[in-house]
Amino acid sequence: MFKKFALSAALALSVAAPGHAAGVSGEVINFDFSWQGPFGSYDQQQLQRGLQVYTESCAACHGLRYVPIRTLSDPNGPELPEDQVRQYASQFQVRDDETGEMRDAEPNDHFPRSQLEEAPDLSLMAKARAGFSGPYGLGINQFLYGTGGPEYIASLLVSYTGESDTQAGVTLYENTAYGGYLNMAEPISDGMIDYADGTEATQEQMAQDVAAFLMWTAEPKMMERKQAGFTGAIFLTILAVLLYLTNKRLWAPVKNRAKKD
Ligand code: HEC
Repeated sequence: MFKKFALSAALALSVAAPGHAAGVSGEVINFDFSWQGPFGSYDQQQLQRGLQVYTESCAACHGLRYVPIRTLSDPNGPELPEDQVRQYASQFQVRDDETGEMRDAEPNDHFPRSQLEEAPDLSLMAKARAGFSGPYGLGINQFLYGTGGPEYIASLLVSYTGESDTQAGVTLYENTAYGGYLNMAEPISDGMIDYADGTEATQEQMAQDVAAFLMWTAEPKMMERKQAGFTGAIFLTILAVLLYLTNKRLWAPVKNRAKKD
């Protein structure tokens, strides 16, 4: 009896728990991203725009503390020229490990931590959230598009209903992708920034760009991983052919003898 009660209490608690680390509770839009599919790759221009959105909006609250600033010039990333990376880094202040004093950040430093304690670090957010689990639990979407972390982030940014609610002095905002109320006001709106490359900064455009950028921070080596996968598959195909031929040759005398008998 007590066991049953404890079990149902635990169940009720887990259902009511706020946040959703892996499950899908809101309505996520299945955006098309450039890296999807076996031959897809990051769009360098989009990553640069995403960096701009992150810097001009999200960085006011969120950090990217696992990302070294120098990686902005890595191949298959935003690929900023090195002098631009140095200039970009110098806008942040960090505490020097040796002298203990504040100084301008350098490319070897990481992006700063979250400025706002309640705002989670975004370095790995694209991997920490799931956008979809596949139609009817078949997992087809996940097989084709991954777990949908970037789709979730982009959807989150365009899915505010405009409703808000104040609880214990904290204002919460309704969001259909979140599947409830969260403590982040709508951070981006149409035309809020001027893109350096002249792209029109609609809310949806910015949401997809910053989601793409955050996918890159969470998986900066995706292109290398795909490349290694292809090399592996080609290697295994050649190996399979060679093994087949070896096998035929090894058994040929035995087969020939069987035919003669
Ligand atoms: C004014 C501060 C602020 C700004 C600006 C801001 N955020 Fe947030 N964000 C928060 C806070 C606070 C939370 C935690 C909300 C909660 O858990 O209720 C949050 C949560 C999130 C989450 C996690 C939601 C979840 O599923 O738990 C994501 C993703 C996110 N923000 C992305 C962004 C992006 C991308 C930008 C820039 C376009 C941005 N935020 C701008 C304060 C901010």
